Amino acid sequence: MLSISLLTTLLLSLTVSSTPIIVRNSLLRLPITKRINGNNLTTILEHDQARAQEFRRRSAAANLKSGDLNTRANVPIINQDLDFIVEVNIGSPPTPYQLLIDTGSSNTWVGAGRLYTETSSSVTTGQQVSVTYGPRSFVAGAEYIDTVSLGLGLTIEGQSIGVASMTEGFLGVDGILGLGPVGLTADTVIGPNPPRFVPTVTDNLYSQHSIESNLVSMSFSPLTSVDSSDGELTFGGTDASKYVGEIHYSNITSTSPASEYWGIDAQIKYGSTLIIQPFTAGIVDTRTILISLASDVFKAYQQVTGAVLDKYTRYLRLTQSQYENLQSLFFNINGVDFELTPNAQIWPRLYNSYIGGEPDKVYLMIEDLGTNSGEGLDFILGTNFLERYYSVFDTENRRVGFAQTARTFSQTN
Ligand SMILES: *[C@@H]1O[C@H](CO)[C@@H](O)[C@H](O)[C@H]1NC(C)=O
Ligand SMILES: *[C@@H]1O[C@H](CO)[C@@H](O)[C@H](O)[C@H]1NC(C)=O
Repeated sequence: MLSISLLTTLLLSLTVSSTPIIVRNSLLRLPITKRINGNNLTTILEHDQARAQEFRRRSAAANLKSGDLNTRANVPIINQDLDFIVEVNIGSPPTPYQLLIDTGSSNTWVGAGRLYTETSSSVTTGQQVSVTYGPRSFVAGAEYIDTVSLGLGLTIEGQSIGVASMTEGFLGVDGILGLGPVGLTADTVIGPNPPRFVPTVTDNLYSQHSIESNLVSMSFSPLTSVDSSDGELTFGGTDASKYVGEIHYSNITSTSPASEYWGIDAQIKYGSTLIIQPFTAGIVDTRTILISLASDVFKAYQQVTGAVLDKYTRYLRLTQSQYENLQSLFFNINGVDFELTPNAQIWPRLYNSYIGGEPDKVYLMIEDLGTNSGEGLDFILGTNFLERYYSVFDTENRRVGFAQTARTFSQTN
């Protein structure tokens, strides 16, 4: 059960005014279903770290060559432990597919679990689609043009999708709904006449005048939430019932490679102590679960919290009295502090056994990114951050927005 207690203190040190997005009555809202894939969550760290590695590698070497695949052959396949899924209908008549929502990639594809059903609206392009997500996580298959329906009656005509003939790392889901910037689709289609970029689902909704703004917004439910479908993905606007106060926006960072993703600049503070300065670039990613900090920042965080690296779970662990003294962690983004309270920094204790932990211990949800800061991608805000803050991914204005929610300061963990 959740006990929600809202702090009434003013926690934002600075308020930046921003032009609100006009919300239509007919916003397209899709429930985000949260699902634990299998019996436990023991590979979250490996999954997040493999993903972080891939974000950096992808920009270093735009396309994966077959030689790379061979050198990766001895890496184990890591399927995602915790899935955030929306149902998308493709074809005419439509077939429903359960797709992972992914702000860190931009192609949409199906066929990992449920096979693609060709219908009267399916058109092959004679080209191939290939996207790499990690050391042993990829999709390869044929490109199709098809009709994609999201929720009630909102339909995209002529959406390019991938139809998987080979996948790794996608056990238990049908594919991906790519919500990242369109630039990430560069060179993903291979064939006689490949497009430079593949317009995303959001791009097409916008260009076909189905939504008023080229943006998506998200609300994630906490892991401990009893209702596994209380997350929400909204196309074309923001849903005022899902956040409180104002949405604070920040332009996409100019620092590469974070600039290729939903990247932002932030200053990170523990209590009143800066643990990295001045500003560092990172990204927001819905398929990263925890909050990743560059190795040197992670070590600084470990030092100020006094946490030890637990040898069984490999998570940072605190004693009860250290937890009682834990201070807030702040991401200052474009002048606004986004606070993670002590409770927002710890793994939900009800679920300690899922990560191989003991019931009476306190584990932290801050993980090591695997490289030191200064590489242009120094933190990743995963779903543990997004369950505390409403998020807006605004393609039109090249910015990311966050707002407080009823759960920002709640004691759910
Ligand atoms: C963000 O980008 C907009 C449009 O390019 C620009 O007008 C604005 O000054 C930028 N804001 C900041 C804080 O850099
Ligand atoms: C977690 O699940 C995996 C695969 O299902 C299994 O190999 C592992 O032993 C499990 N770990 C725990 C702590 O239950």
